[in-house]
Amino acid sequence: MEMNNKPIGVFDSGIGGLTVAREIMEQLPRESIVYFGDTARVPYGSKSRETVTRFAFEGLNFLLAQDVKMVVVACNTVSATCLEELQRYSPVPVLGVIEPGARAAAGGTRSGIVGVIGTERTIKSEAYVKAIHAIDKNIKIHSRACPLFVPLVEEGWLDNEAARYTARTYLEPLKKEGIDTLVLACTHYPLLKPTLQAVVGEDVRLVDSAYETAREVRRVLEDGDLRRTADAPPAYRYFVSDNPAKFIEVGERFLRRPIDPISVIDPEVPCQDMKSKGRKSV
Ligand code: DGL
Repeated sequence: MEMNNKPIGVFDSGIGGLTVAREIMEQLPRESIVYFGDTARVPYGSKSRETVTRFAFEGLNFLLAQDVKMVVVACNTVSATCLEELQRYSPVPVLGVIEPGARAAAGGTRSGIVGVIGTERTIKSEAYVKAIHAIDKNIKIHSRACPLFVPLVEEGWLDNEAARYTARTYLEPLKKEGIDTLVLACTHYPLLKPTLQAVVGEDVRLVDSAYETAREVRRVLEDGDLRRTADAPPAYRYFVSDNPAKFIEVGERFLRRPIDPISVIDPEVPCQDMKSKGRKSV
């Protein structure tokens, strides 16, 4: 297939990367997408650097085997852990989510006090602190790991009492620090936006790196002359490593479009046969 008409690969540890896929669908509606969510091994955010790196290479290799023209690492944990290693290895461009999010935060804060929330690994890596300070070293940053948000989202508990209680517990201390911008440094958190906004108040701007990342995808495609040119409508394919039914249930509610076809793959086995094709067989 001609390079331009190949799909964009989107990689995440689970369902949360659909926030980035949705933005790409909206901003680049002619592009095809192959999505891989490593639902068997989510969460990545509480695992070691070595394990996250190994999983990330397996995910990248799987997408490269799908003949993609570029890969978007929607997962903040992977972007914070080993993006440069993936970029050095990959024959096609690999884009992470941290720089786009950091740019939006640094450009948007008026008070110069920014909150960053993410997984334990993302916060420990200080990747956002470094990226924001590379733009403006005077910005004060208050970071907090919020590990319970990921299972809440994977469970589809986006605005019930458990979600509200967890959000209050994590975010009220940040609010007291006087932040005017809160970076949602995790794929999953944009799904909790209304709940998070209610806790921090309307005067705090939530930065969702999905939007910024999709703009960056457009720039990379334009710079590389890689925009899709085919007349046929774009194709969206989904791959997960486990539990497609849950992925479909939560994902369709979020994407507001069918998650079909979906297949289950084992990222540890290169070039394997697909265990299922099409949602009827899921
Ligand atoms: N995708 C991860 C991230 O954006 C969140 C889920 C996980 O911990 O794997 O950091």
